[in-house]
Amino acid sequence: MQDQYGRVIDYLRISVTDQCNLRCVYCMPREENLRFLPKDELLTDEEIVRLCRIFADIGISRIKFTGGEPLLRKGLADLVFRIGQIPGVKEMTLTTNGVLLKDQIGALYQSGISSVNISLDAAQKEHFSSIAGIDYFEQVMEGFEEAKKYPMTVKINCVLARELNEGQWLSLAEYAKDAKVDVRFIEMMPIGTGKQYTSGGQDELLARIKERYGDVEEQKEKGNGPAIYYKVQGFLGRIGFISAMSHKFCSQCNRIRLTADGVLKPCLQYESHVELKRMLRQGRTEHELTELIVKSIFQKPKEHKFQEQQEKRCDLTGNMLEKKKMSEIGG
Ligand code: GTP
Ligand code: 5AD
Ligand code: SF4
Repeated sequence: MQDQYGRVIDYLRISVTDQCNLRCVYCMPREENLRFLPKDELLTDEEIVRLCRIFADIGISRIKFTGGEPLLRKGLADLVFRIGQIPGVKEMTLTTNGVLLKDQIGALYQSGISSVNISLDAAQKEHFSSIAGIDYFEQVMEGFEEAKKYPMTVKINCVLARELNEGQWLSLAEYAKDAKVDVRFIEMMPIGTGKQYTSGGQDELLARIKERYGDVEEQKEKGNGPAIYYKVQGFLGRIGFISAMSHKFCSQCNRIRLTADGVLKPCLQYESHVELKRMLRQGRTEHELTELIVKSIFQKPKEHKFQEQQEKRCDLTGNMLEKKKMSEIGG
């Protein structure tokens, strides 16, 4: 379906858990009392499948499984399989930190996952641990190697945080050299603890890549998301950028989000939402749920206001801006 600005909305990001087995400093504050959702606040498999049927009926054809860390959800492969059976669902992808990937990738591939994004902010073990809080570098590497054995698209996601990983950017870019793996650099968005860091910028990093590897060629074809890609001479994979700050892509946004606690969010940055879990548990009919979802998608905000946000809590039209952590929203 289309929203009020004529954007075609056909992509749903489902956060299947708010828990994570890493503690990346820009995402999860390292205070002791992190609170996670009690089990009964999470959507059940049955509820997610029911909602996906409605979403597919109104034109959602691509589904991203995310978190927190999605592989922490028990029975994820079964859930993926069930969603893949829904008429209209054409593509299912996963974004993971990779820690548990090695053992789960086979089942996920069998269930219908066709593309995996692995978050990796450093190319060296010690550096990885200092950002991610826990020394799981080898597990992530094993997951990455295993994923490459399948006929799937594999991408690396690196968040550009000057204070955390500036010296790692070019080493990470090298993962795209000898394997058909896309390495994407993500500008840090000022969400949660991400606000404390200075983002690296696309133009600056691209200039460094050109300086080291020679000319690059912008690729016309785009993926499902906001990334733009460059081909570097001699590299098998591509270098991508997701630059919500310096190259805003809201005018082409194609997506909505379902949080782990069952809230539909039409835009990453706004608090506006529909409490689908509550509606489901109140026994609302399919027709009522569909009407609420369609209305919310139609009213999807035009764009994020990260630049203007600073200390303001609402945008000029009075819409409240999101205060949740990235791990709760699902990226
Ligand atoms: P594919 O290219 O289809 O694999 O997915 P993707 O790049 O959309 O998803 P991924 O889960 O790998 O997300 C990468 C980064 O893009 C994360 O930092 C997300 O928060 C960010 N991102 C994804 N969708 C949006 C969006 O609609 N708006 C903004 N501002 N950022 C987004
Ligand atoms: N800005 C941009 N990307 C972020 N991610 C987590 N927090 C932020 C942020 N503040 C990334 C993760 C992961 C993806 C789902 O979102 O590193 O790759
Ligand atoms: Fe790190 Fe992702 Fe977990 Fe956040 S959700 S702590 S970015 S692995």
